[in-house]
Amino acid sequence: MPDTLPADWTASPASFADSPLSQALRQPLLLGLFLPLQQGGWSPSSHPRGTDWRFDYNARLAQQAEALGFDLAFGLAKWLGKGGYGGATQYHGLTLDPFIVTTALAAVTRRILLISTIHVLYGPWHPLHLTKFGATLDHIAQGRWGINVVTGHRESEHRRFGKAPIPHGLRYEMADEFLRIAKQLWAASEEVSIAGRFWNLEAAYEALKPCYGRPVIVSASGSQAGIDFAARHSDILFTTSPGGAALDAAVETLPALVDSIRRASFAAGRPPLRSLVNPLIICRPTEREALQYRDAIIAAADHEAIANFSGDRSDAQGFRGFQADQRALGANTIHIVGSPEQVTDQLARLKRTGIDGVQIAFFDFEPDLAFFGSDVLPLLKQAGLRL
Ligand SMILES: Cc1cc2nc3c(=O)[nH]c(=O)nc-3n(C[C@H](O)[C@H](O)[C@H](O)COP(=O)(O)O)c2cc1C
Repeated sequence: MPDTLPADWTASPASFADSPLSQALRQPLLLGLFLPLQQGGWSPSSHPRGTDWRFDYNARLAQQAEALGFDLAFGLAKWLGKGGYGGATQYHGLTLDPFIVTTALAAVTRRILLISTIHVLYGPWHPLHLTKFGATLDHIAQGRWGINVVTGHRESEHRRFGKAPIPHGLRYEMADEFLRIAKQLWAASEEVSIAGRFWNLEAAYEALKPCYGRPVIVSASGSQAGIDFAARHSDILFTTSPGGAALDAAVETLPALVDSIRRASFAAGRPPLRSLVNPLIICRPTEREALQYRDAIIAAADHEAIANFSGDRSDAQGFRGFQADQRALGANTIHIVGSPEQVTDQLARLKRTGIDGVQIAFFDFEPDLAFFGSDVLPLLKQAGLRL
C-alpha cells in the first residue's frame, strides 16, 4: 500500500500500479460474480436449485470466485414492498443489503475486489456518511473496496422513502455533486466547507482515508446521462445490452454503446472508463444438455412474479431492450447458453464488441460456478481472455 496518497481528488486507485484495481485491469476480460443477495437470484423460475440469498451461501460463493481468480464480486440493491415481486417464488421477497454484506465479505476474503451497490439519493444520506463508512470498509478490505453508484430508477422505491421520484437527469446532477464532495473529502488534508446545490458541509473532515486515496468507483447505467456521469467519476461502467437478452442482439448493439462510452471518456479527459456487462450463463457439458436445462428453467417460469417485476415502473433507459418473456431465465441479463466451448466463444464475441468485462450470474450458483471454473475458465485462458 502507498505511503503517500494523492492530494488530487480526481485521482483513481488505478494510478497505483500495485492497487487491487490495477491488478484486475491487467486481465484481458475482467471477471466478476453477480452475487445472489436476493431471493430467486436473477431468475423468476420454480425450477429446483440451491441458489440462496443468505449470507453464508454468498460468502462461500465469494470465496469460491476468489479461488478461481475472479477479479470482483458484488450484488444488487433493492428496496421492495412486502413479498417482493411475489408469485410462487416470492421473487426478491428477501434481499440482503449489499453494503453490509460487503463489509462482512471483506473479513473472509483476501484478494477479490468487493463492490457495494448503494442508492446515494435515498433517505438522509450525506457524502460524509459515505466518506467514513467507505474508508472504514476499505481498511477492513485492505484496499479492495468499491462503490457501485445507483440513483434509483424505480418510482416505488423513492415513494418508500417518502419522496417523490426524482427526474432522470436531475438524479445524475445530484449524484455528481454527492460523489464530487465525497471524493474531495477523501482527498482533503484540511477541513472542507461546501455550500452545494443539494448538500452543505461546514468544517467537515474525515482523517481515515481509503488505502489508495479513494475506493474503486463503479456506476450502473445504460443512458447517455449515466455514461457521462461515469466518464466524470467512475473507473468502471456497469451496463447491459441495448438490444436485450439475446446474445446476437447484444453483440449487434453493444459496439455503438462502447463507442459512446469511449467518446464520453475521452471528453472527460480521464483515464479510460472500463465497461462491464451482465450475462447469465447456462453451461453444461454438451449443447443439448445446456438447452434442456434452459428449457426446464423457462418451463417453470413464475409468470406472476415476472408480471409484477415488469410492472414496477422504472425510467431506466438501459433496460429498454429487454422483453418480459425473456425474464424467467435471467431478468435484464444477457443470456449465454451452451457447452464450455460455446460459452467461451460467446464470451469472446462479447469481448470483441469492445466491452472490458463480464459480471456473471448463474441459475444454480454453487454448482454452476464450480463447472464454469473447471470447464470454461481453462478455455478462456486458451482463448487469451484470461491470464
Ligand atoms: C447492469 C445494471 C445493473 C444495475 N443494478 C442496479 C441495482 O442493483 N439497483 C438499482 O436500483 N438499480 C440498478 N441499476 C439501474 C441503474 O442504476 C439506473 O438507475 C438505471 O439503469 C436508470 O438509469 P439509466 O437510464 O441511466 O440506465 C442497474 C443498471 C444496470 C445497467
